[in-house]
Amino acid sequence: MKPEKIYIETYGCQMNKLDSEYVNAILTEDGFTVVTDPDDADVILLNTCGVRDNAEQRIHGRVGELSSLRRFKPDLIFGIIGCMAQRLGNNLISDVVSIVAGPDTYRLLPSMIEKALYEKTSFTDLHRDETYSGIEPVRVCSHSAWVAVMRGCNNYCSYCIVPYTRGSERSIPCDDILAEIENLKQNGYREVTLLGQNVNSYNDGEINFTRLLERIAQTGIEWIRFLTSHPKDLSVDILDVMSKNDNICNHLHLPLQSGSDRILKAMNRKYTISRYLSLIESARKFIPGINISTDIIFGFPDETEEDYRNTLSVMQSVRFDFAFLYRYSEREGTKAALFPNKVPEQVRLDRLREAIELQNSIIRQKNRERIGATYVVLIKGLSKDKQGWYGFTETNIPVVVKSKDGASRIGSFVNVHIEDSTGGSLVGTAI
Ligand code: SAH
Ligand code: SF4
Ligand code: F3S
Repeated sequence: MKPEKIYIETYGCQMNKLDSEYVNAILTEDGFTVVTDPDDADVILLNTCGVRDNAEQRIHGRVGELSSLRRFKPDLIFGIIGCMAQRLGNNLISDVVSIVAGPDTYRLLPSMIEKALYEKTSFTDLHRDETYSGIEPVRVCSHSAWVAVMRGCNNYCSYCIVPYTRGSERSIPCDDILAEIENLKQNGYREVTLLGQNVNSYNDGEINFTRLLERIAQTGIEWIRFLTSHPKDLSVDILDVMSKNDNICNHLHLPLQSGSDRILKAMNRKYTISRYLSLIESARKFIPGINISTDIIFGFPDETEEDYRNTLSVMQSVRFDFAFLYRYSEREGTKAALFPNKVPEQVRLDRLREAIELQNSIIRQKNRERIGATYVVLIKGLSKDKQGWYGFTETNIPVVVKSKDGASRIGSFVNVHIEDSTGGSLVGTAI
């Protein structure tokens, strides 16, 4: 019997989440039905991340768990797609897994699925021109959309697997992006998040990221966000465009990675701490009240106690509004995997733990200072206790919104008076 129903589970970054929406579109177009419950599926696809080892361990665990469904459905087909698929290729094919597809091969998925009952296939070619142009993603959300402005990465930070799993950088033509955003706006979308591994290197002939952002702002879509900015390429021009356009959200994600120049050099990041700090200063000058978030890695090879203390002191002086903190995870095939003086796992963990405590205390303090303020919040869904909603401010702070009004406000902008904070979120009442 031909497999018909497909269940897709997604891990990793926003780019991967958007890719799942492309996969959904490709499969739907080909006559498959995408279902939301694995119990209903003939095919289970896991769209995976390979950026750290624990991301991959989780997938192995999940495959094991889901494979028990085979007891009731012996023909159930498993596919691993995405970055881990690209990294491990054929090696993932097993008794359970019969499809392996890297991020540039999703147009082949329908034929792979049709053959899967009698043939196991792995496709991991990288195509420098593949941008999935001409395909309209089947979006899971009806008010916020991810829009890729580029794919791939050319930066080769020495710890990072992404350039190997996603191939070289390619920019999507400006006109296509504008047409997509116009279309989203017509369909009631209120927020777009522009995606690229390093959006600041966007390049479509005359149009760089600054010009692109300007043109997107002119579409009038209500909230525009973008990820990720690289400190080596972020320009003051971009900050200027942000400050001049109210619909570009006052949030900047600017990965620091380390607070030590020596480690930044070994990471091949191509900026210094003094450049990083001067960018932060400019951002705060151009856009008062801007929120700045970051990514930092702890325990990179040869990171000394002093390097680590330098990172903590940058965290203390910048006071990030949010930080994704990671312990270094060695990725085979990257340059750093060959570096000597590995930091023991326990030290990586201890450093990470202390940094998380510092960051949490910074956020708690910042959130206390926000009590009494009123923010516009874009409502994303019901709160955990189902008594209210949750959403995000323009500056990307999570907010739990109390309300007695039972009407659905999902996808709308609500003014919220902040009365409290818990953990990382603000708590307030809709006014
Ligand atoms: N292109 C983006 C995001 C890349 S992946 C950027 O350059 O910022 C997201 C984050 O994962 C990175 O910023 C980095 O902090 C982290 N990361 C990447 N490789 C890692 C590794 N080998 N170990 C631990 N963290 C890693
Ligand atoms: Fe990885 Fe660096 Fe590219 Fe980001 S910029 S995806 S960290 S190689
Ligand atoms: Fe994203 Fe993970 Fe790939 S962070 S680019 S899904 S390795």
